[in-house]
Amino acid sequence: MDIKAIKKEAEKDIDSAKNLKELDDIFKKYLGKKGEITRILRSLKDLSEKQKKETGMLANKIKKELEINIKEKKYVLQSSDWLASKFQDIFDITVPSKKLLVGHLHPITIVRRKVEEIFQQMGFSVVEGPEVETEWYNFDALNIPKDHPARDAWDTLWLKPESQKLLLRTHTSPVQIRYMEKNQPPLRIIAPDRVFRHEATDASHDVQFYQLEGLMIGKDISAANFVAVIQEFFQRFFNKEIKIRLRPSFFPFTEPSFEMDINCVNCQGKGCSVCKQTGWLETLGAGMVHPEVFKACGYNPKFWQGFAFGVGLDRLAMMKYKINDIRLFYSSDLRFLEQF
Ligand code: PHE
Repeated sequence: MDIKAIKKEAEKDIDSAKNLKELDDIFKKYLGKKGEITRILRSLKDLSEKQKKETGMLANKIKKELEINIKEKKYVLQSSDWLASKFQDIFDITVPSKKLLVGHLHPITIVRRKVEEIFQQMGFSVVEGPEVETEWYNFDALNIPKDHPARDAWDTLWLKPESQKLLLRTHTSPVQIRYMEKNQPPLRIIAPDRVFRHEATDASHDVQFYQLEGLMIGKDISAANFVAVIQEFFQRFFNKEIKIRLRPSFFPFTEPSFEMDINCVNCQGKGCSVCKQTGWLETLGAGMVHPEVFKACGYNPKFWQGFAFGVGLDRLAMMKYKINDIRLFYSSDLRFLEQF
């Protein structure tokens, strides 16, 4: 075949190549070891001097042109291959989509909402107070005067300047005072909120945690009412029969005061490692509101009486979910949080 005809045919082939594999075959067909142009160049030696010169120059020129053509076509095919793969990524509706990460409530929030729901069903309102408190609300109004040793029970984070006597509240009891100052009995409230202690952390202590304060005041609210309300609460919270027991205790703002235990939710009271073989779990502090507290809020203690209690929400969550270290709640460890 005439060398110019070969060139034309090669150009047509290159033009119609649909992918890199086809293009590679075209390269081999014309410029490979046994390619048509290569064959012509090899056969030059059999030609006369004149023909050798003419054909040689022409064949070399065509070789160069075809090489350039193929190179250009290669770029075109490569970029369209790339585009096609991109479009496939975007438009192929059969490709499974990436799983979206959906957030969820923190275990403490789950417990807090459950607790609120139960108490609201029993007629309690949910109230809040500030996390930065004054010495008066956190201590004095709760019958814990300055220099009284009872203050040592609440390791306090004081805020600067000290002259202002501001602190991070050590318990939710000041919310009782704030509410009673502004409202008249009869009343039923709970205050689930964050509190702070200046404490070394360990598996059951942290510098911050959540408490649930409860307060019920009326003309004849008694300790028996407390037992009924709190037992009902625990049964609804754990969804099972719960036994409780009271032990005498001391809080400056209640008289009499008691600690309350529930039978171990892990072993049903038989004795296990969770309850240290006692069958009971220490759960909350409570008592009948002290007359001095009523006075501080402007209530007449002769007319009103009622109970107050405080329980750790973290502790409730730990019992419900069988968690053995309070610090897990605040560590932001996804391996822990993703279990809820
Ligand atoms: N405020 C107490 C505490 O932090 C708990 C408590 C509240 C006890 C109400 C009695 C009545 O330990």
